[in-house]
Amino acid sequence: MSKKDIILTGDRPTGSMHLGHLVGSMLNRVKLQETCEQYVMIADVQALTDNFEQPEKVHANVVEVICDYLAVGIDPQKTTIFLQSMIPAIPELTMYYMNLVTLARVQRNPTLKTEIKQKGFGQNIPVGFLVYPINQAADITAFKANLVPVGADQLPIIEQTNEVVRSFNRIYKTNVLVEAKGVVPKCARLSGIDGKAKMSKSLNNDISLKDSADELAKKVRNMYTDPNHLRVEDPGKIEGNIVFEYLDIFGSDKNKVAELKEQYQKGGLGDVKVKNYLVEQLDALLAPIRKKRAEFAKDPAQVLQIALDGTRVANEVTQATLAEVKAAMHLVY
Ligand code: TRP
Repeated sequence: MSKKDIILTGDRPTGSMHLGHLVGSMLNRVKLQETCEQYVMIADVQALTDNFEQPEKVHANVVEVICDYLAVGIDPQKTTIFLQSMIPAIPELTMYYMNLVTLARVQRNPTLKTEIKQKGFGQNIPVGFLVYPINQAADITAFKANLVPVGADQLPIIEQTNEVVRSFNRIYKTNVLVEAKGVVPKCARLSGIDGKAKMSKSLNNDISLKDSADELAKKVRNMYTDPNHLRVEDPGKIEGNIVFEYLDIFGSDKNKVAELKEQYQKGGLGDVKVKNYLVEQLDALLAPIRKKRAEFAKDPAQVLQIALDGTRVANEVTQATLAEVKAAMHLVY
């Protein structure tokens, strides 16, 4: 039997998960847990690198995110869910890896560069933020993960992780660290309901897994379509039309979607009708998740306990790696 793939993924707990996360990563995890050794990390430490002034927000969202995981079917019997801040091996590894990475190298990391621009740090970049790719290398290598499913925007971080792995193994003449492959899931990028950017809570263009059926319908009603499609009888465009982008992903009946597209482009199909169909399709997916989520949310202590149990397992695994790393670095006394 071949060795199981080891998977490490994670999310910054800065809000509850949305539809983009669901199709981009969460459903993928539900599948992967059947065949792989999977770890899912609540990246509360990484969340603090750009939310250090809002620790309450990060803390409050930890349980929210675990509820999301459980509601979509990430099963704690099959997946180890854990809290980053409770894994001391991660900051310790980060410290050792920092020797192996130059300042210029982190500053060239495209993921980081984009985020620095977005967050408007200017010249005042907190060192903690600058170091987060190295911290992420520690997350991944602590588990000897060989597969890391991520959005395309995160690939440069995996590349940097592998540079650390190669430097470490070369310098300390060892093979304890394992290179990881970044895999981008098929639906890794879902447009926001405004059609302007990727779906994100901070851009206020998301459909949350927590949204009620009414909120969902309201958001779909406000979705960006074809601004020139003013009257029902006018021909409409489907390129860049978010309702059709979503139907391509969430429409269960591909023939029906193809028919709607044809009719829309010809003229004679109003936005309201298409949107009502999309609401139906999305609600079929989200209603069961919403229901399970509400059940879990009733007992936050029990939800948190699941991550604490996972943390125990994660500490066993990462302490073993740390011991090997320290031995390779002659830090054994
Ligand atoms: N950087 C990821 C994000 O912003 C979260 C994350 C932290 C992560 N550590 C990780 C993802 C390790 C994959 C592997 O979403």
